[in-house]
Amino acid sequence: MPASRQLGITGNPDYDGEPFTDFALVNRRTPIENLNLNWRERDLPERVRTKHVHRLHPYLGKFVPQMVEIFLRKYQPRMVCDPFCWSGTTLVEASALGIDSVGADISEFNCLLSRVKTRQYNLRRLETEINDILTRFHLELHPTLFRNGLGGEMRTASEFLQNWYAPNALGQLLFYRKLINDYAYQDVLKVVLSRAARSARLTTHFDLDFPRKPQIGAYQCHKHRRTCRPTDNAEKFLVRYSLDTLHRIKEFAASRQPARVRVVSGDSRGIRFPNADMVITSPPYVGLIDYHEQHRYAYDLLGLPSRDEEEIGPASGGNSQAAVTRYVENMTLAFSNVIRSLEARSRVVVVVHDRRELYDEIGQRLGVKTEYRFGRHVNRRTGRRATDFFEDVIVWRT
Ligand SMILES: C[S@@+](CC[C@H](N)C(=O)[O-])C[C@H]1O[C@@H](n2cnc3c(N)ncnc32)[C@H](O)[C@@H]1O
Repeated sequence: MPASRQLGITGNPDYDGEPFTDFALVNRRTPIENLNLNWRERDLPERVRTKHVHRLHPYLGKFVPQMVEIFLRKYQPRMVCDPFCWSGTTLVEASALGIDSVGADISEFNCLLSRVKTRQYNLRRLETEINDILTRFHLELHPTLFRNGLGGEMRTASEFLQNWYAPNALGQLLFYRKLINDYAYQDVLKVVLSRAARSARLTTHFDLDFPRKPQIGAYQCHKHRRTCRPTDNAEKFLVRYSLDTLHRIKEFAASRQPARVRVVSGDSRGIRFPNADMVITSPPYVGLIDYHEQHRYAYDLLGLPSRDEEEIGPASGGNSQAAVTRYVENMTLAFSNVIRSLEARSRVVVVVHDRRELYDEIGQRLGVKTEYRFGRHVNRRTGRRATDFFEDVIVWRT
């Protein structure tokens, strides 16, 4: 067991008791290390974990927003930084509490999503634009006696898109993409397009997270216990997600407080972060996820630049001893860069499944003091990650 783990609670002394859910009661005096954060599905149901903008788009590797809320309420920073912000969980929770925030990510798609979640909108204009694009899309797609259908064939040079979509679905996605140029809130529409594109891929229903090859034709579906077919239609997803996105953005707008949010696209080892007094982050781990590849369809459809070679600890880099050594060096570089922008004695909260126990060494290299560290039992996961595991919550003091 790493020395730092002995500082806090290890395991689940309270596991049979009631997990803590009175988030608004947390304040500076709350001893978080004594709280039971081992939520079961009934304590913290998925719809609460994915409330308002947290569910604008599916992705792997997100942490529980309520964990972030607890730490923000306890330490009440003026400005919080997340150097691996992915889908913007820290930034959204900071905005909800009126705390300024800055996030960075190497993946351009993740930055786009974080910006869309945290931006302030003219809601009437957003609603008008979403209704307008849907109306135009519908008119063009469903010809009448007086109108022709999809004018001109929609084409793409991307082999990936050609392989992973039925021609009808791909035509619809490309046509929607063309319409996006006519609107002010293009980034919101791009997120809708990407979410629809994810659902409209030629995949089986049971392997949406990691499909290995396109599914052509009918298949026996383990999830629905019947014969299913991959979809050839993206329209239903575009309509459903347009309305859902509008609803979620409105819901968040009604509850958030005024706060500044900055999202920087780039490598956290080199970015010059603005001054902050706290970090909350859930960093990538060794050999687990390829963050760019996970949303390859979005990169191809939206023409986003890829910086996948700068990802720390990608799955494609494997988990050999050399990969582990590289990871420790790169994480030390990234954290020491972030810590340079922090006030003295700031807290750095790291949520990570440290199964190789690398974070004691990283902390030592950084010269930070471990205030406490505890394991949190992660109970409910879907898809291929159906196993229970512990994630580590580490609080460093600079
Ligand atoms: C586990 S995810 C963070 C999840 C996030 N806390 C959330 O809830 O959405 C790790 C993120 O680190 C990003 N990342 C990997 N290497 C990076 C680098 N060199 N600089 C900045 N971000 C990087 C990945 O793109 C990914 O979005």
